[in-house]
Amino acid sequence: MSQQQWTAVDRYITDQLAPHDEALEEALRASDAAGLPPIHVAPNQGKFLHLLALLQGARNILEVGTLGGYSTIWLARALPPGGRLVTLEMDPKHAEVARANLARAGLSEVVDLRVGRALDTLPLIAAEKRGPFDVVFIDADKRSNPDYFQWALKLTRKGSLIIIDNVVRNGAVVDATSTDPNIQGVRRLYEMLAAEPRVSTTAVQTVGSKGYDGFAMALVTGDA
Ligand code: SAH
Ligand code: DHB
Ligand code: MG
Repeated sequence: MSQQQWTAVDRYITDQLAPHDEALEEALRASDAAGLPPIHVAPNQGKFLHLLALLQGARNILEVGTLGGYSTIWLARALPPGGRLVTLEMDPKHAEVARANLARAGLSEVVDLRVGRALDTLPLIAAEKRGPFDVVFIDADKRSNPDYFQWALKLTRKGSLIIIDNVVRNGAVVDATSTDPNIQGVRRLYEMLAAEPRVSTTAVQTVGSKGYDGFAMALVTGDA
């Protein structure tokens, strides 16, 4: 099994089931042209996020880590009229690219993009009583995953879904001796998820155009 094969299969799946429209295509083109790293979710993963938000009947979504707004577009398109998505991005350049991409997708009124470190903006979101969120997608700096998960719990309700990207990292997650703060952040997240009685959680490994990684999903089953 090779990366080439995973990419070919992802392309097949995407062509069949997660076709791109102009706004999604242009979001990736503009992100690339602006020099953003190509670390957005794959198209079929974006569609998966979209379906999860639909399953949740989500009207209020929180995303941590916007980049060029590619996953934001997939998620926001699952919202009914009047639904809202708050997305948090630290890098002003990424935010600028995302704003243009969201505008082209017709989502400027739906998406509230907040620039700043998420650990600074999350308390403001809480103070503004913007929650509870029906879906939270955590996809920023991995070392802060434990903090983001605690915030997600504060900002959700029983029945909400918390999704965390990149919880396998090419298999590095099983290295208990890793000194990489991102791996340590992911491992601390698992420990937190395992010990948290208010959620029921799993994680799934994935291969595809974005390599070998995975995501975790925590359903809030108790009052957060
Ligand atoms: N969700 C996007 C990809 C996000 S990449 C998609 O799939 O399309 C991770 C993003 O998190 C980057 O844009 C990075 O600038 C941002 N980020 C990193 N640390 C952050 C922090 N402390 N607060 C907010 N955003 C952060
Ligand atoms: C990285 C971040 C991501 O969110 C991702 O999906 C893939 C890679 C990274 O920081 O390398
Ligand atoms: Mg990611």
